[in-house]
Amino acid sequence: MTAERLVENLDEAEAAQELARLQSILATANVEYYQGDQPKLTDAEYDALKRRNAEIEERFPHLKLENSTSEQVGAAPADGFGKIQHAVRMLSLGNAFSDEDVVEFETSVRKFLGHVSGPLEFTAEPKIDGLSLSLRYEEGVLVQAATRGDGATGENVLANARTIANIPQAVEGAPDVLEVRGEVYMSHADFDHLNAAQTKAGAKTFSNPRNAAAGSLRQLDAAITKARPLKFFAYAWGELSDPLAETQWDAIERLASFGFDTNPLTKLCETPAEMISHYRKIEEQRATLGYDIDGVVYKVNDLALQGRLGFRSTTPRWAIAHKFPAELAWTRLEGIDIQVGRTGALSPVARLAPVTVGGVVVSNATLHNEDYIAGRGNKGEKIRAGKDIRVGDWVQVYRAGDVIPKVADVDISKRPDDAEVFAMPQVCPKCGSPAVREEGDAVRRCTGGLICPAQAIEKLKHFVSRAAFDIEGLGAKQIESFYEDPQLPIKEPADIFTLRTRDDSSLTKLANRDGWGATSVKKVFQAIDDKRKIELSRLIFALGIRHVGEVTAQDLARHFGSWEALSENATQARPAALAHRAADEAEALERELAARDGRRARVSEVRKTAITEQAVPFDAARAWSFLIDADGIGATVALSLSDALANRDESGAIARLVAQLDEIIPPKAQHSESPVAGKTVVFTGTLEKMTRAEAKARAEALGAKVSGSVSAKTDFLVAGPGAGSKAKKAADLGVETMDEDGWLSLIGDA
Ligand code: IVH
Repeated sequence: MTAERLVENLDEAEAAQELARLQSILATANVEYYQGDQPKLTDAEYDALKRRNAEIEERFPHLKLENSTSEQVGAAPADGFGKIQHAVRMLSLGNAFSDEDVVEFETSVRKFLGHVSGPLEFTAEPKIDGLSLSLRYEEGVLVQAATRGDGATGENVLANARTIANIPQAVEGAPDVLEVRGEVYMSHADFDHLNAAQTKAGAKTFSNPRNAAAGSLRQLDAAITKARPLKFFAYAWGELSDPLAETQWDAIERLASFGFDTNPLTKLCETPAEMISHYRKIEEQRATLGYDIDGVVYKVNDLALQGRLGFRSTTPRWAIAHKFPAELAWTRLEGIDIQVGRTGALSPVARLAPVTVGGVVVSNATLHNEDYIAGRGNKGEKIRAGKDIRVGDWVQVYRAGDVIPKVADVDISKRPDDAEVFAMPQVCPKCGSPAVREEGDAVRRCTGGLICPAQAIEKLKHFVSRAAFDIEGLGAKQIESFYEDPQLPIKEPADIFTLRTRDDSSLTKLANRDGWGATSVKKVFQAIDDKRKIELSRLIFALGIRHVGEVTAQDLARHFGSWEALSENATQARPAALAHRAADEAEALERELAARDGRRARVSEVRKTAITEQAVPFDAARAWSFLIDADGIGATVALSLSDALANRDESGAIARLVAQLDEIIPPKAQHSESPVAGKTVVFTGTLEKMTRAEAKARAEALGAKVSGSVSAKTDFLVAGPGAGSKAKKAADLGVETMDEDGWLSLIGDA
């Protein structure tokens, strides 16, 4: 393609000419997609031309052609997909890898429910290897289609879903609000056909049917989706105005009666043995099904029981995916590259002679860490019978579903004579700073902090990632190219927020970048400005502090309520944090000495002395204990947080970022409508209507905290028959005490 002139530099005559040229290319491309499956343009090229067409039309609306391709069916906005908040979260499934795991799953279900008499039924059905889709029907009409996204928010792909032949546009006899969930997939035959067509057209081919299905559904232009043969299996539901049935089985039958395809290999089972036997049967048929599956899903059949079992944070307790074994292949290890991560971790990555593993070409695989390469596990035990891995070796590569491939084994009988023992570099290969391995850490880390470009870039990528600032149009790829940009570099998060104002000609400079144009630059500016208002938990997570993942960030946000409170506390607690680190070191030394002398280690004594010697000021000690008192926060997180905020470079970068933000939104009080939200409850004695685990899970779901012992902080004691000392203590402390029925009526479940 010839170099294109910036849209903003075109005059009217040129614009008209350019629109005509684009119209002709796009119309031809559409016909190719619709009819011949022989696209000559790659998806990216097609998208870029569409975007350019739209930009010119936006600048010269009166030049828009009557039959403009931008007006044709399903032409979606060029700026990506709209977002849809799921009415009911779309979750994932826990995994079982062995028959024992299945038995344990059934046992755990029974145990949670406590009093199930007689058989417990489960459905067993193939786990389709595609991507999940939620379809919403209102008064029988398809009105919304959303991908799973992060579970809470998905992408609006309605125009695309409408092109899938076996998705009903309308349903009869269904509840007024019906959300049908299932899997979009591509059959093997359709996949082969698509790839052959792509190859013929010189376009990009897909590595497997799942990617092809995902790439086809998530098309900005529904015309492309329409030309790609996708199918849908319904297996679950989201929001419903009326229940579908009383059992999973009947609910699926009802979905089938509305016109959805449901999987014919679904079976009702009464015992783990039946479930496992059905799994084997499906596994035998796997190769001849004509579409990819990666396991079997078991679901509790009784929907009332499903309701009682409820969910963990991201998976239901009433279902599990029994995965097929991973796929293996042997190949030559050609080299070991070292990647440097966000927290400085040096990760060895295997460079492999390309090999097909389960239908996907693999040329890189993880080697975890230096111990793994040496044949040692994380407790120093032998793995692979102690065999080490060397460049030149013949290695076994393992891949399971979406998991990053890993090197699982080595055949030392094929080892070349000159193969050398691998040695991890002692300096960071990216910045030359010393790379050190601390006591108890399996990983060697670059000590360069933010001066290490690799760490800085990874931190920035994390900062813009989906669970963090999630800035549309500014993803990992862009961040990488901006880091070294000579004109408008982004070296730290605050630089993202000064992109627009840093330079009078920011817009022009950015619009001249490859793949950008004035319109997309403006959109990115807007997307950045939109994030000047951010939830506290996202901000904390986005900082990329070691040990502070999404859940910990939420815990910290809830505990402190504001950024100021958190950072003030961490600063104040610094002397105590240092004392605790000194105590950890003293403890480790004492353990080592005790082991050498064959005596018992006096760790608590040593710890106490070490802390006292540091003479921790009272306010620091108080701040420290407030910090580690937070739910889910222990000394490891507290120390890491304290280190990050005490580090000059890091805290400087954080302060510059915070100065760019307009509002840091405190966390919402959870379930404030429930009278037990935020309260601490203790269960004691025998519960008769639910098990302890169920009681705890339900209380927590309503925002209550469940504790094992009664104290002045306890708000309610729920005492069943046989309650003893806890009931007495509660009475002494004046804690409100009730029986199980009282509790159920309090939580509105009597
Ligand atoms: S049930 C609450 N059934 O597997 C979860 N999921 O690993 C309801 N999947 O996100 C999901 N086949 O995309 C269910 N027969 C099946 C499935 C299935 C494939 C996918 C689904 C889910 C993922 C979890």
